[in-house]
Amino acid sequence: MLAAYAAAQSADDPLSGLEVGERPDPEHREGWTTVRLRTAALNHHDVWSLRGVGLPADRLPMVLGCDGAGVTEDGDEVLVHAVVPSPGWSGDETLDPRRSLLSEVHDGTLAEVVAVPAANVVPKPEGLSWEHAACLPTAWLTAYRMLFTNAAVRPGDTVLVQGAAGGVATAAVQLGSAAGLRMWVTSRDEAKGEQAVALGADRAFGSGERLPERVDAVLETVGAATWSHSINSLRPGGTVVISGATSGDAPSKAELTKIFFKQLRVLGSTMGTRSELEALARFVVGAGIEPLVDSVMPLAEARDGFARMVDGRVTGKVVFTVS
Ligand SMILES: NC(=O)c1ccc[n+]([C@@H]2O[C@H](COP(=O)([O-])OP(=O)(O)OC[C@H]3O[C@@H](n4cnc5c(N)ncnc54)[C@H](OP(=O)(O)O)[C@@H]3O)[C@@H](O)[C@H]2O)c1
Repeated sequence: MLAAYAAAQSADDPLSGLEVGERPDPEHREGWTTVRLRTAALNHHDVWSLRGVGLPADRLPMVLGCDGAGVTEDGDEVLVHAVVPSPGWSGDETLDPRRSLLSEVHDGTLAEVVAVPAANVVPKPEGLSWEHAACLPTAWLTAYRMLFTNAAVRPGDTVLVQGAAGGVATAAVQLGSAAGLRMWVTSRDEAKGEQAVALGADRAFGSGERLPERVDAVLETVGAATWSHSINSLRPGGTVVISGATSGDAPSKAELTKIFFKQLRVLGSTMGTRSELEALARFVVGAGIEPLVDSVMPLAEARDGFARMVDGRVTGKVVFTVS
């Protein structure tokens, strides 16, 4: 089958280890099913894997990809849930210490066929296009859990999203504004801020700019570069939810004094559960949300999509058409 896979890793030149070519079809496993992919999508996770973060070299070659949608052996149209729990785990799979994401232990979705545990598929709601279905399982699911499970916000509250253009950030803006939250964003680039406003954000600010008032919650994926601003922007008792650290995980100040003095809540968040993915898909269709797509290209041209992400040119999701 055709697949985009990590054949080697390089921290400085992630594209050098990317191959787009033939890999063996997945082997049958008891309790697992296969999904013939129609669409798949790219995440920063795939670039981290090529840089050698989160994917040990002894697991190469590894088919990349956490996002995908397609058709099961039984002919059901599904979204693929990328969080694979360890055998026998019950309850919230994101809390399973031995969970993995597709492409970390098991081959991922940037392929014609992917094998997943039978429980790791979610029905694709009618009215959700293949292109949009592939956007949901990773960045969108992460944004959904950050906002609706972890940030503890209510319609009317104000939420600041750091780094307006990322996959998680654009999803958060679209989900939050559809849910009646006042969404504010920051960006280093005025045009990206304006684009977030076009997507539903209430206001856009420059990276690090002082806000006109303090916010109820901050969604962090940028990390070191914006951490102090996130802490300074919260009202007393507010919540920062962090799910990524694109600019690094060692901020120059941890802001410990402000965190305890203002009684802030700092919450980590990773992916989401199968039931959150199901609810997300229903919400997207019900609210008429159209996930922002940066570009659509055949899987055979996946290298172009990876290059866009490595160069920081992506706004929204890069989608690959597979079949
Ligand atoms: N925990 C999870 O489950 C989970 C799930 C999905 C993603 N993630 C992580 O979350 C992070 C975000 O991923 P993503 O795909 O949404 O987006 P991304 O491509 O990593 O970009 C996020 C945003 O970060 C901002 N940014 C990057 N470097 C910066 C810097 N030095 N200073 C200030 N801002 C900077 C950019 O915003 P502007 O250009 O607008 O300023 C960019 O749009 C990644 O690290 C990813 O691995 C985690």
